[in-house]
Amino acid sequence: MSAYLIKGASVVGSEPTDLLVRDGVVAEVGRGLDVAGAVIIDAAGLVVLPGLVDLHTHLREPGREDAETVESGSRAAALGGYTAVCAMANTSPVADTAGVVEQVWRLGREAGLVDVQPIGAVTVGLAGERLAELGAMADSAAQVRIFSDDGHCVADPRLMRRALEYVKAFDGVIAQHAEEPRLTEGAQMHEGEVSTRLGLTGWPAVAEEAIIARDVLLAEHVGSRLHVCHVSTAGSVEVLRQAKARGVRVTAEVTPHHLLLTDESAATYDPVFKVNPPLRTATDIAALRAALADGVIDIVATDHAPHALEDKECEWAYARPGMLGLETALSIVLDVLGPNWDLIAERMSRTPARIAGLAEHGIDPAPGTPANLTLVDPAARRTVVAAELASRSRNTPYAGTVLPGRIVATFLRGEPTVLDGKAVK
Ligand code: DOR
Ligand code: ZN
Repeated sequence: MSAYLIKGASVVGSEPTDLLVRDGVVAEVGRGLDVAGAVIIDAAGLVVLPGLVDLHTHLREPGREDAETVESGSRAAALGGYTAVCAMANTSPVADTAGVVEQVWRLGREAGLVDVQPIGAVTVGLAGERLAELGAMADSAAQVRIFSDDGHCVADPRLMRRALEYVKAFDGVIAQHAEEPRLTEGAQMHEGEVSTRLGLTGWPAVAEEAIIARDVLLAEHVGSRLHVCHVSTAGSVEVLRQAKARGVRVTAEVTPHHLLLTDESAATYDPVFKVNPPLRTATDIAALRAALADGVIDIVATDHAPHALEDKECEWAYARPGMLGLETALSIVLDVLGPNWDLIAERMSRTPARIAGLAEHGIDPAPGTPANLTLVDPAARRTVVAAELASRSRNTPYAGTVLPGRIVATFLRGEPTVLDGKAVK
């Protein structure tokens, strides 16, 4: 194990200092550190953040290793500045048993690039009919605490209530993909002016808002923790604002793409812009940005959703929903929030780590803390080239776009996973 001396970095936006990383921890912090034998990293102009934590990543293994593997997704995550990702359960087979979540957890350990924390399915096969083995997944080596049928909504209110009750025993959380299925049958994009013009079946905002309203009431009734995935509408923000004001134990995420892109993108008919929930309007974006700043939305999560070429390079109606996110998220958030490093650390590291119960993550670097860190160059600008991404898939909506910020280095427990902007292994 080498020691690393990071020289002249700004810790979460404060005055430049040096950090010594040794034996898995931040050993020292201070100006003018000089340590014999340490690998020197010149970090003048760079910002150190606690390693980013993604609460919503699709890694596709087992089942769709052509689109992504635990290893390729982990590498994409490390390059994006992440030190931990929560892997969604909609794999094949579904992560609805202790066996599957342990397999994903073990593959993450073997890749060794980020901590991969599996999310368990709420219902068997994501079918929305019977509760999965939540307790067995919680007791497994993977120690699952977040459960989600993401991709599908737990639409049955009785099942949702039971799931919320069940996870209360071990302080688990149900992460809901809020989509009332009866209101989105055949939906292709956001229901609004653009869908009318294009003649595509719409996904109305109320399909999301109605489920969130119901679920915050259920969570309040049961006294359990609810997390709302990929909030996309101004109306959802208002429902969440009221629930939080009443003290409901609810947290919420927004994706980078819902903070930036609108339903006008669908007019290109390029399926790279097809995503669920769909891209909304400028009014929604403004409400989501304000909610992210004031805390009604707690975190940014990527919903990194790799898809193979044949599932994306086809007619809009047949394309799978979803877009890549891990390797561009920090840049988009920097673009949206500006160099507000404390807020970025809060929304992309500290709070997601707390929601997921990842005790070693989301901690600002100080002597004795686990060295899970990312080094960002805020002044750099880069053009996104799909072919250069570490993900096995190519479905980024930002190809050819110039984005601010670059991840220079990522450390997982004191070992670099990324150096000079390149994956170490
Ligand atoms: O766009 C999406 N893609 N939304 C989801 O809820 C699921 C995800 C996927 O698995 O591709
Ligand atoms: Zn989802």
